Amino acid sequence: MAGEAIELRERDKAARYRELVPQLAALVDGEPDLIANLANITAALRVCLPVASWIGFYVMRGGELVLGPFQGNVACVRIALGRGVCGTAAAERRTVIVDDVERFPGHIACDAGSRSEIVVPIVRADAVLGVLDVDSYQLAAFDAVDGAWLGRIAELCAALRW
Ligand code: SME
Repeated sequence: MAGEAIELRERDKAARYRELVPQLAALVDGEPDLIANLANITAALRVCLPVASWIGFYVMRGGELVLGPFQGNVACVRIALGRGVCGTAAAERRTVIVDDVERFPGHIACDAGSRSEIVVPIVRADAVLGVLDVDSYQLAAFDAVDGAWLGRIAELCAALRW
């Protein structure tokens, strides 16, 4: 798999995710290194989600979220639990979809151009390992379809060696 391009033929979003997930599973299969796996997942997700301006992971380190592998502009390094969209998703262990970041109290603006966001927690055995965060320059870029499929991808991430 290494070195091969992720190619998605479908145009419909759900169909693209359906194509992507087995390719992600193949991408991480047998590889124990977390940084390598998370990095490749962000690169593959970028192919699936052209609407995204930023795709990345924050990982739990000593009780706070710390920036992990990502695709996009430089971003905030540390986010406290309960702060911003990422900290809210982690603290409440639920997917948070924000149609308009200006209407989310406490949103942390790493990129002033960001308009909407989805954050999915990565949970294993009741412990939050991190979050998967996707931003867009478009308002309301993410919906329940993204929530469901990114949730599947977060489960795949939770099964990796951390
Ligand atoms: N907007 C996020 C911060 C992370 S950046 O979007 C990459 C938040 O409010 O938690």
